[in-house]
Amino acid sequence: MNGRSVLMNLKGLLTPDPNSRWKVDRVDDAAIALAEGRVAWMGRRADLPVEWADAPLIDGEGAWALPGFVDPHTHLLFSGDRSGEFNRRLQGVPYAQVAAEGGGIRETVRATRAATVGELVELGEARLKTLHSRGVFHIEAKTGYGLELEAESRLMEAYAELKGRGWSLDVTLLPAHDIPKEFAGDAEGYARVVAEVWLPELVRRHPGLARYCDVFIEAGVFSIHQGRRIFESGKKLGLQPRIHADELSWTGGAELAAELGGASADHLMFCSEAGMKAMAEAHVTPILLPTTTLCLGMRDWAPARQMIEAGCNVALASDFNPGSSPCLDPLLVLRLGCLQLRLTFEEALTAMTLHAARSLGHGDLGHLHPGARTPIALWPVKDPLELVYWVGGAYAPKVVA
Ligand code: NIG
Ligand code: FE
Repeated sequence: MNGRSVLMNLKGLLTPDPNSRWKVDRVDDAAIALAEGRVAWMGRRADLPVEWADAPLIDGEGAWALPGFVDPHTHLLFSGDRSGEFNRRLQGVPYAQVAAEGGGIRETVRATRAATVGELVELGEARLKTLHSRGVFHIEAKTGYGLELEAESRLMEAYAELKGRGWSLDVTLLPAHDIPKEFAGDAEGYARVVAEVWLPELVRRHPGLARYCDVFIEAGVFSIHQGRRIFESGKKLGLQPRIHADELSWTGGAELAAELGGASADHLMFCSEAGMKAMAEAHVTPILLPTTTLCLGMRDWAPARQMIEAGCNVALASDFNPGSSPCLDPLLVLRLGCLQLRLTFEEALTAMTLHAARSLGHGDLGHLHPGARTPIALWPVKDPLELVYWVGGAYAPKVVA
């Protein structure tokens, strides 16, 4: 929003305090002064500074103002779906077995390679609209369903187009999401090509677009050694690591993220205590993805409480993807953060706003203190706790831009 305005008639506002790790500020009967798309002041309506007295008013309609959610781990762009595989997994076939038989990620790769850039953009934009209508105003989005140079490049073109249309997103290169059929049995050879040829070429073709690179480090996919090689190449190109780490078994991905100065290590259902300590010391954000644990039918919820006690700034994300988390529902992520990861509501909210934004280097997202960027989400609830209390409640926020 341009110019100056005051958001009035709010039941209250709830925001993480950007000067602290887990403190959340709650202001009843609040007002928020906005200037040039940023929060200029916030507090009790009765304390609104006099210089805002004649600014145009925006009616908050008695809602609660919260910062928009930031989703720091999505696989936004892919074609097709995997509902058939879902049914097999319900019958007890493990995720890794479906993948080993040529399904899983490879099935989505076949569909995505066949899609045009225009089709990918339309799919991506529809998903972004859904997320936006549910209060998610910024995301991280990965490539990784091309697994060949030209197909990964088309995904980059589609992300460039989405950014050009005004969508707020950060791009991560993930050609090492799986071993494509062309390199079956040769993870080592594929990792070498990704590190030495594809990453430099993708950055050359799409300068400034990707900020991060990622590798799926897992038994039977990429090893720590192969991951390190890809990340070292990425770092020379200005790409900071984000890692699919310790998801189905312990591999030491969290420790690697700490060693390399990564922005995040994600999943972490099987993270070691040493990994947690290393992440805290190296300021790596552990990003936990509880809808993935849910959709994979696993009982191995990531040890969120232990990570917080170890000193980590835990974040939460959707992992939106067609296989292990076909989920565009931030409130489900928030609820599972509370109900399964045992976070308090305030911690889960901070994990989906402030710490999610910080993991992407955005100090002006994920809170409502002065300097924060709009949009702001206005939730029509009596108390913000209702967002997690009513399981399955279909709340949608109004958006103040
Ligand atoms: O984050 N682990 C690898 N990638 C995804 C799953 C992708 C897929 O199944 O299509 C994940 O869980
Ligand atoms: Fe993922």
